[in-house]
Amino acid sequence: MLPNLLEQYNSIFNTSEKPRFFFAPGRINLIGEHTDYNGGHVFPASISFGTYALAHKRTDQKLCFYSLNFPDSGIIECDVNNLDYNDAHNWANFPKGMIKFIRESGHEITTGMDILFYGNIPNGAGLSSSASIEMVTGVVLEGLFDLEIDRIKMIQIGQKVENDYIGVNSGIMDQFAIGKGKSNHAILLNSQTLDYQYAPILLDNHVIIIINTNKQRTLAGSKYNERRAQCEQALADLQTELSIQSLGDLTNDEFEQHKHLIKNELDQKRAKHAVYENQRTIEATHKLGLGDLEAFGQLMNESHRSLQVDYEVTGLELDTVVSAAWEQPGVIGARMTGAGFGGCAIAIVEKDQADNFKSNVDKIYNAKIGYPPSFYVATIGDGAKEITEECAK
Ligand code: GLA
Repeated sequence: MLPNLLEQYNSIFNTSEKPRFFFAPGRINLIGEHTDYNGGHVFPASISFGTYALAHKRTDQKLCFYSLNFPDSGIIECDVNNLDYNDAHNWANFPKGMIKFIRESGHEITTGMDILFYGNIPNGAGLSSSASIEMVTGVVLEGLFDLEIDRIKMIQIGQKVENDYIGVNSGIMDQFAIGKGKSNHAILLNSQTLDYQYAPILLDNHVIIIINTNKQRTLAGSKYNERRAQCEQALADLQTELSIQSLGDLTNDEFEQHKHLIKNELDQKRAKHAVYENQRTIEATHKLGLGDLEAFGQLMNESHRSLQVDYEVTGLELDTVVSAAWEQPGVIGARMTGAGFGGCAIAIVEKDQADNFKSNVDKIYNAKIGYPPSFYVATIGDGAKEITEECAK
């Protein structure tokens, strides 16, 4: 159940204006982790949890942001002509960055706005709440100012907000999944060329269960940027003899033949993950297309092991939850999803076994970690768009 957003809007902004309603989802990634900034493939899908935004133009130049998720921050105000990053503006830097860069890309945003945000993506769970705020801001601007923003451009602007405004060197997967999501489909995206295709998620009698370790992570504070730098170093070492543009250009065999060029052992492990994970992703989507869910699940499991051993981004909580999942009857595959370092895992589980799965994994995790995980059945919904008031109930 959502809170009564319209009522909240009118009371917080002290207005009787009727705002327009917008929504951007969060995302899960089925396979293809830490490949998007290595020129590889990813296979994400947008989910039904996400960020709602209610927005109305003002007659002056003021931007007034309020999030029901951060009521203590109150209304955060700034001028539409001064959109520089400001620490004190906290979460509102995400929509601010989006407005700034959309303006700078040539779109006219002439007045201020009142915008109310409400997200039901668990906070810090690695389901892309920040990309969701960025993309919902993108569709708000499109709607209120009658802009025609090319969707890929909007996605790239979202990534630019993370990279150049917030300071996280993330890839394009999250904004892409959220900007181009399609109900009941995942997206196979080549992050180098941005070619993509939709793949129906045919799960027969299975469901995708999202398991939140409830260990929060923040990307900026994590080792994310360090992993990226290690991959870049590995690529530079390989480029001393190979003419490749990214790690995604290599097959597993090519990597094995040339890995000695990578001077540092850790960089070599990181690059190995990036190369193998890219190949695994291509193979996994192929298997899914053939209806071979078992093979898809095996590749998910391999993906997790590689993220654990070679990329080292899992940690005790994710490893505990995933290995508990692997032991359960009716499980096709399980792995961490997103950046790692805490956050969520996903598992494909037989529908009939779902309750049993949850209670067993809960017990094992709780006994080892000392607090329970949370479970959600994933529904694959549409990407960012304007919605009706009815859809926000
Ligand atoms: C985060 C980043 C993405 C991607 C994943 C790891 O979600 O925002 O760009 O790199 O981590 O696959």
